[in-house]
Amino acid sequence: MKYMPVRELQMPQKIAAGPDSIEKISDFVMSEKIKKVTIITDEGVWRTGITDRPGKLLKKNGIHADLVHDVPAEPAVDQIKRIFNLIKEFKPQMLIGIGGGSVIDTVKILAVMLTNDTALEDLLGAEKIQNKGIPTLAIPTTAGTGSEVTPNAIVLVPESACKQGIISRKIIPDFVILDPIMTTGLPPFLTAATGMDAFCHAIECYISLKANPLSDSFAVRAVNLIWKSIRKVYHDGSDMNARFDMLLGSFLAGWALCTSGGTAVHAMSYPVGGKFRVPHGVSNAIILPHLMKFNMYSVERRLASLAAGMELYGNATSERQRAEQMVEDIHLLVR
Ligand SMILES: NC(=O)c1ccc[n+]([C@@H]2O[C@H](COP(=O)([O-])OP(=O)(O)OC[C@H]3O[C@@H](n4cnc5c(N)ncnc54)[C@H](O)[C@@H]3O)[C@@H](O)[C@H]2O)c1
Ligand SMILES: [Fe+2]
Repeated sequence: MKYMPVRELQMPQKIAAGPDSIEKISDFVMSEKIKKVTIITDEGVWRTGITDRPGKLLKKNGIHADLVHDVPAEPAVDQIKRIFNLIKEFKPQMLIGIGGGSVIDTVKILAVMLTNDTALEDLLGAEKIQNKGIPTLAIPTTAGTGSEVTPNAIVLVPESACKQGIISRKIIPDFVILDPIMTTGLPPFLTAATGMDAFCHAIECYISLKANPLSDSFAVRAVNLIWKSIRKVYHDGSDMNARFDMLLGSFLAGWALCTSGGTAVHAMSYPVGGKFRVPHGVSNAIILPHLMKFNMYSVERRLASLAAGMELYGNATSERQRAEQMVEDIHLLVR
């Protein structure tokens, strides 16, 4: 008998989720008997003031925290090297990333640069990392990339005008805090763009040839949560339930990515982002409906079953019609 291939999923050690779960920050750090950390964030996040509370919580518990607050959006190799030269002087025992995918990916890369005597260029690609990094704690402020759970980190390589990935289980963050309060300051445009990135992860994982029962269970739930809440958070950023749906959806879509994978949407989005510097979520979103139309013959059954599970388009007379209606609605959502 032919069974499905065995899938493995490696998870962070501890995850705290829900409004105010940021309160767990010191427990996570102290569980590793750590006294000295570096918080890494970017200018936009830092200016909102949301990094103040975690800083204060750590201080209250006698944990020393250095701060770097200038990670560039979608950073390039040299920009990460500059931050590495700065933080190695701090000698941190743990890195805490508070931000979107740009910050969390940077933290994942820096953690292994601190424990491997290897140039960043030589870490690019799959399974090039020898030693696990110092412990990391990821606190996403976008919903988002799912970077807090994936074995991937993306970096811009200007020489090739393209973005490349570092892929290794050794960079999966050790601790994750999913606190929707940390995402409430995200303005509508970024909420939409980053939310569509998560939506693409979930849909792509579901229609990918690598889709399997394990990834489906995360991808389907993620599609449902994001579909239900993305318009709500776009129109009312303070809707905490919708913000939490988005954060959970993005996190689950990240897990789906771990055992399934992106499709041509993400593959085509990387050169678009690398060459024209279009934000990652936007470049994915503009490609998504067109790719689904192009691949309709291959994906119609999967899309129709997804739509049926969501109780959508009950009047459709065929799987093809149900799938086409869903693609039309996704096109509207993207617009
Ligand atoms: N590692 C992975 O698995 C993975 C998956 C998909 C994408 N990525 C990568 O992640 C990067 C994109 O990450 P992103 O889409 O999260 O965006 P981002 O991290 O680049 O942030 C976008 C902007 O949003 C601002 N911002 C973030 N949180 C905010 C908040 N709460 N309030 C106000 N402003 C806020 C930032 O300051 C920044 O200007 C790209 O480099 C992409 O290639 C990684
Ligand atoms: Fe993505």
